[in-house]
Amino acid sequence: MTRRTAFLIFFFGTLSSAVIFLLLTIDFHRKKDIYTDTSALTEQVVAGKNVWKKYNCNDCHTMLGFGGYYAPDMTKAFFRLGENNIIAIVMHPEEVYKNSFRKMPNLGVTEKEARDLVAFFKWTGNIENRQWPPQDEKYVAAYRMRESAAQVLTKTDIVLGACGGCHAFENQGRDVAGDFNDIAKETTYDRDTLVKLMLDPDSVDPDLGMPAQNVSRETAELIADFILSLK
Ligand code: HEC
Ligand code: HEC
Repeated sequence: MTRRTAFLIFFFGTLSSAVIFLLLTIDFHRKKDIYTDTSALTEQVVAGKNVWKKYNCNDCHTMLGFGGYYAPDMTKAFFRLGENNIIAIVMHPEEVYKNSFRKMPNLGVTEKEARDLVAFFKWTGNIENRQWPPQDEKYVAAYRMRESAAQVLTKTDIVLGACGGCHAFENQGRDVAGDFNDIAKETTYDRDTLVKLMLDPDSVDPDLGMPAQNVSRETAELIADFILSLK
């Protein structure tokens, strides 16, 4: 290769990459409103983003691929966990994760900040990012459909969609609070008590460390039947 060919490869290579990069950037800015759901960008969402920054949550967590790989990705956390669970985890990780070997520190987040974070997670969860991260798509579908079209979902989808942020079943979901097969074998609760445990855990066992679940009574009954069927 002569000096001149090397220069031409360098020159046109750089030029064509720069043109492609510029075109993609312009294309993204034209479609930004669609992809990022800017119409839902409220002040509370922005406040939540600032809480995320204030406590450096992404030292350990990733969001849209950025951040530390120590703790779960937060892009679709809203659908994986729902509002109450997120607030409880963020404010009292030492209670919710008392049995987990990994540790999230209690950072002293206030309730208002936790609610702002929920708004932020709800917004990021709705960004059109071509179903990424793929492992969360099942939770997103189950969350969206469990109250409106539960009949098209399997029982396992509903159970994991509602409880899979902390419980496991047949190697799916996160096992930080017990596998439903083990829970079913050990539990002495009847159907009504299980339903109560989901909707108002403190009235059944105030030391459990499980937050009240954002599920309707109908969904809670369906899940209670499922747990009891595993006995
Ligand atoms: C020092 C590392 C660290 C920091 C900083 C941290 N977390 Fe965590 N977080 C964790 C770990 C580890 C887990 C998983 C705990 C487990 O599995 O026992 C977790 C779990 C969570 C979960 C539940 C995720 C899921 O999929 O079940 C949420 C929500 C969460 N963190 C939010 C936050 C927020 C919001 C902040 C900032 C205010 C934050 N975290 C800061 C380490 C951290
Ligand atoms: C944010 C985490 C979290 C979510 C989500 C969650 N749980 Fe739990 N759950 C816990 C914790 C923590 C415990 C206590 C575990 C322990 O002490 O070993 C628990 C325990 C239980 C127990 C056993 C109670 C007992 O006294 O032995 C049942 C039953 C249960 N959960 C059902 C559910 C159902 C059903 C759902 C979904 C509707 C759900 N959980 C969602 C955290 C969670």
